[in-house]
Amino acid sequence: MDDLVLRAVASVDDDRHLLTYDVRGSLAHVAMLAAAGVVTPEQAERISAGLHLILAEGLELALEDEDVHMAVERRLEALIGDDARLLHTARSRNDQVALDLRLFVDAKQAELRDALGSLVEALEQKAETHATVVMPGYTHVQRAQPVLFAHALLAFRDQFSRDVARLDIPFVSPLGAGALAGSAVPIDPAYTARALGASDVFSNSIDAVSDRDFAAEFVFAATLAAIHLSQLAETLILWCTAEFGFVRLPDSLTTGSSLMPQKKNPDCLELVRGRAGQSLGDLVALLTTLKGLPVGYNRDLQETKPPVIRAAETVRTSALVCALAIEELEVDAAAMAVAASDDGLFATDIVERLVASGVAFRDAHERVAAVVRSGASFSSLSAGEWLEFGIDPSCAGPFTPEASVASRTSPGGTSPASLRAQLSRPRRT
Ligand code: ARG
Repeated sequence: MDDLVLRAVASVDDDRHLLTYDVRGSLAHVAMLAAAGVVTPEQAERISAGLHLILAEGLELALEDEDVHMAVERRLEALIGDDARLLHTARSRNDQVALDLRLFVDAKQAELRDALGSLVEALEQKAETHATVVMPGYTHVQRAQPVLFAHALLAFRDQFSRDVARLDIPFVSPLGAGALAGSAVPIDPAYTARALGASDVFSNSIDAVSDRDFAAEFVFAATLAAIHLSQLAETLILWCTAEFGFVRLPDSLTTGSSLMPQKKNPDCLELVRGRAGQSLGDLVALLTTLKGLPVGYNRDLQETKPPVIRAAETVRTSALVCALAIEELEVDAAAMAVAASDDGLFATDIVERLVASGVAFRDAHERVAAVVRSGASFSSLSAGEWLEFGIDPSCAGPFTPEASVASRTSPGGTSPASLRAQLSRPRRT
């Protein structure tokens, strides 16, 4: 192969991440070949021993190898001699690479579930520790109604629980599909599937070598988690500002400025936010690679590996950073209490009391809106002035953020009782 072409088609850089999965696949394959009587038990024994040695020693992949599959085979031959030449019987790099990526996704989705699971736990822990802290709840980043700080944390918990549940892509073994047509050798694909812990085995050999749905599903699941992580990061970045002042990150999680001595910057969270874009780009890249493929294996499929490898690592790191940030977050309950005492936050409380006293909702909304338009603050109005707006003074307060929160007892609302119910929900992780 021309040097330039070799460099253009080699996948050794990505394949470093697939080495152990490639060898595990070969161990299952050779066991199947022996069980099917295609190689002798002694040959299988020697091949397995060589493969185990490669697993133990590791293997530097050289450009000349082109890919991990060739590298392992060459190394095996150097280690055990001619028996190595039996290993690739009834197998193609096409079903082999599909298997490697399947095994990789299966392992990485478990790692990602763990990392996101630790974030879920950190959020629950923090919510439990600060169960009574009240803050302004926001819509449109405008103060809306008082909520429990813990209720906001559990909103993120629910997102990440769904992400964990989504990372449940079945592992179907494609090994035994050959290049596209199966094999004339009496192989048993179900044997290797079982040996590798797959939940199923392929049913169509052409689909088996070209199917990358699992990769797309994995990168989608990882990307959606990355987007949720970005939303959490953005929220914490806002709450850390002097303008909000609701939480602080300890020095161990912040970086300084090379110029301004006072700075404590949330760089680690900014990078969580920034890297979500990378995963999103990877998802689009992967899907775009697939869209033009004619039926069967095409070398374009090699390009489905980098998005999977990169998304797995980026999103895992981001999840762990966020878990640490939540664990270490210092909560300024007093600052939140001050912000949550803003009169305007009780407008809906007045409306809901009027509704309870028999006023139609739309009328109640209009009367309170008229007070707001007048520019008067609720706490400054006299009983007579409330009556002028058509509002019974007993509906007008006084309110506290705590009482406001306690009144929102509807299921899934922000009351302390609802919080307890949410916290006692069985963990999905
Ligand atoms: N190196 C390829 C990949 O990473 C696998 C080799 C299949 N190539 C082939 N020409 N049949 O996807």
